Amino acid sequence: MANIFNRAAAGVMDWVNARAPALAPMYRKHMSEYYAPKNFNIWYIFGVLSMVVLVNQIVTGIFLTMHFKTSAAEAFASVEYIMRDVEWGWLIRYMHSTGASLFFIVVYLHMFRGLMYGSYQKPRELVWILGMLIYLVLMAEAFMGYVLPWGQMSFWGAKVIISLFGAIPVIGNGLTEWIMGDYLPSDATLNRFFALHVIALPLVLLLLVVLHLGALHEVGSNNPDGVEIKKGPRGNRWSPTAPADGVPFHPYYTVKDTFYVCAMLVIAAFIIFFAPAFGGWFLEHDNFTEANKLVTPEHIKPVWYYTPFYAMLRVVPDKLGGVLVMFGAIAILFALPWLDRSKARSYRYRGVLSWVLLLGFAFSFVWLGKIGAGPGTDPVETIVGRILTAYYFLFFLTMPIWTKIDKTKPVPERVTTHD
Ligand code: HEM
Repeated sequence: MANIFNRAAAGVMDWVNARAPALAPMYRKHMSEYYAPKNFNIWYIFGVLSMVVLVNQIVTGIFLTMHFKTSAAEAFASVEYIMRDVEWGWLIRYMHSTGASLFFIVVYLHMFRGLMYGSYQKPRELVWILGMLIYLVLMAEAFMGYVLPWGQMSFWGAKVIISLFGAIPVIGNGLTEWIMGDYLPSDATLNRFFALHVIALPLVLLLLVVLHLGALHEVGSNNPDGVEIKKGPRGNRWSPTAPADGVPFHPYYTVKDTFYVCAMLVIAAFIIFFAPAFGGWFLEHDNFTEANKLVTPEHIKPVWYYTPFYAMLRVVPDKLGGVLVMFGAIAILFALPWLDRSKARSYRYRGVLSWVLLLGFAFSFVWLGKIGAGPGTDPVETIVGRILTAYYFLFFLTMPIWTKIDKTKPVPERVTTHD
């Protein structure tokens, strides 16, 4: 039986090979002969988990689109219809809304891994830049998706965020109107956000992910030791020319990743089944009420993944200044590969100073997130927010100095495997 199956499979492979001879080398380059460092740890699973969540968003999004009504008059009711009347509609909707938050959780952990192991350093600058473009598009994608159910927070969130463009001198007001297609978020806004959310931005995201991986596979993966396996000795048990410290991505990492994908799915299932709104963090309570342009919610705040930047916007007294600080906080991440001058790529071999500053950075980002999620009325919190915002910027702006003066430990020639 197995023999018949193998012969049939080989026959199909030959048939495909004769017609598309470029496919098999592509599979070898990216899977069976992609030699990834053998010392990957758990921080290296978040790229693959991001891909799984991306697929989840696309698949559940297709099903939601089948029942969603793209008009300000019907959108909210159509989402209620999905939740109550469409078979399994509640599950599809919660997989999509919880998926959005999971996406940001795994992407933030993925980015932090990059920070810790210096994965943005030469020769992976392009991988980082493409990652940052993914991050920007992802933020726009999630923002537009949040507007679609046309709840109170969809409407007022859209109004606050789009009105920020009004702070730009001269063209600001015109630009705000142009984006909304009206003077307030309206049918026109909903329609264009739908078009961008379901097709334009997902296409851009997919393209960027392909480029991100393409760029990574040209230079090869970094690893927790931050040493270049391509520069080390050659020859392993699969190939005499491959790096000695590399293992074929398939099957070694495909098996490992499958285990972690299953673990993530179990955690995701628990959230989806038992706490889909996650206490208002993943789906805000105000969004279960239909949009009403005459009633402003008590606290207008974005979803948790934007709140650190929202806090920065709010603690700056001037509107244009706040907008510049908020966008500047994202823009500065693009420059990271050129700000870090450390001799040791990975933080494993950096000194105490680097560790203290990095942990301070993570702490300030999380605390800013907490401030951004609050009402923003406490003056003490505003001052704390200003200090943390200053810390965020100083972390990057002074990086060329502290990465130079920090005393690094000797970096090993080859990866350490700990076994
Ligand atoms: C849809 C979102 C994303 C997907 C699907 C994705 C996917 C991946 C995958 C599969 C890898 C290889 C496996 C791994 O190292 O974890 C990777 C590596 C990498 N990604 Fe992403 N990524 C995404 C977003 C980002 C973002 C936002 C950044 C940073 C701004 C980023 C920066 C990097 C870097 C620097 C590497 C190389 C890491 C190393 O070799 O140490 N990625 N990405």
